[in-house]
Amino acid sequence: MDLNDILMYDETIFQDVTVFNSDYLPENFKLRQPQMEEMAFSLRPALMGGKPINNLILGPPATGKTTAIKKLFEMAEEDCDDEIICVYVNCQLHSTKFDIFSQIHKKIFGHAPPETGVPFARVYNNIMNELYDSEKALIVALDDINHLFQGNMISEIFYDILRAHESFNGVRTGIFAVLSDIDFRHVLDKNVGSIFNATEINFKPYNYEETYNILKERAKLGFFPNVISESLIEMITDYTMDHGDLRLGIELLRMSGNNAEIRAARVIEEEDVEKAFNSAEGISLRYVLETLSDKEKHLLKFITRVKEDNITSGDLFKLYNRENKISYATYNRLINKLEFLRLIDTTYTGIGKKGNSRYITLRFDGKEIRNNLSEKKSRVTRFN
Ligand SMILES: Nc1ncnc2c1ncn2[C@@H]1O[C@H](COP(=O)(O)OP(=O)(O)OP(=O)(O)O)[C@@H](O)[C@H]1O
Ligand SMILES: [Mg+2]
Repeated sequence: MDLNDILMYDETIFQDVTVFNSDYLPENFKLRQPQMEEMAFSLRPALMGGKPINNLILGPPATGKTTAIKKLFEMAEEDCDDEIICVYVNCQLHSTKFDIFSQIHKKIFGHAPPETGVPFARVYNNIMNELYDSEKALIVALDDINHLFQGNMISEIFYDILRAHESFNGVRTGIFAVLSDIDFRHVLDKNVGSIFNATEINFKPYNYEETYNILKERAKLGFFPNVISESLIEMITDYTMDHGDLRLGIELLRMSGNNAEIRAARVIEEEDVEKAFNSAEGISLRYVLETLSDKEKHLLKFITRVKEDNITSGDLFKLYNRENKISYATYNRLINKLEFLRLIDTTYTGIGKKGNSRYITLRFDGKEIRNNLSEKKSRVTRFN
């Protein structure tokens, strides 16, 4: 096929490719019905003039926490628009106090405040005055709150949201906080303590059967009938269970479909799935490494050479700083970026001043990282 053929080719095995997108909200979400009900109960008081109940939503990655909140907020928005304002904030993307309140402002007023020149107090007062006047309750979902742990920002943010009624009489506010790494639990308790009284809602990992059924349903929506066999879905389920990430399973369905289309085939074969497995292993790492700055690359390379298995962030800084003079703030930024890109894991040790000293571990094989870092950029384009 030449380029034109590829673009104009109108035969496809995808019935609806958008169901594989990361922002797709599944219609059938029955497996999380109990959690959705608990969350809905927490909103109920707010619909009757009371204060919403705070929720702490706990569960490993890809267990449906974000989806549950988004679905519930959509429903609340349709049915209870007069009584409640629901704001969803992804703290990975919005991690400063100003940024988070900008998101709230945007939801309430339809536009974010200007990024410069407006003092925080004005943004805050505008929001709270509006809640006071409209008598609506505010519920803010803070997703992945571990991104707010730096510099104890989280306590200020929680305080500003939850204690608003102290300055704005009668204003009703609540927080749904989402935490996917249980290691962070004590950091949260230490930092927000008694301000945040919350009902815990747990999202347990899906078992084999549940994972299989979710993938099968997604395949049914995404592909035309008989494009993928049950045994191939089982194969993808096995791989998904091994890697503990449902998101990967959904992506593998899409990649397998693409591979079959590249062969101009009408059904997905085992080779397409195998190829998807292989690409999943290597591509993500290469792509991510390409996006790093020189400083980030340098630190990452250094980490791959560290002998200790469990090194704390502080010890790593000391070691790195012997040869490379950088400030702790810069170092911390680099570490956070590497974690954000999921190249390293940081887990809280429970030691240190606020109990927030972290262990640093690589998520990939050190040698593989070094090999990829030393290769020429053009390497990546082969996989485009
Ligand atoms: N019960 C379910 N039924 C169908 N799809 C699901 C279900 N649970 C999760 N998914 C799908 O799995 C993917 C991950 O879900 P989601 O983003 O809600 O997880 P999460 O718990 O917020 O993960 P993280 O902690 O990594 O943010 C999404 O594509 C979502 O559609
Ligand atoms: Mg999420």
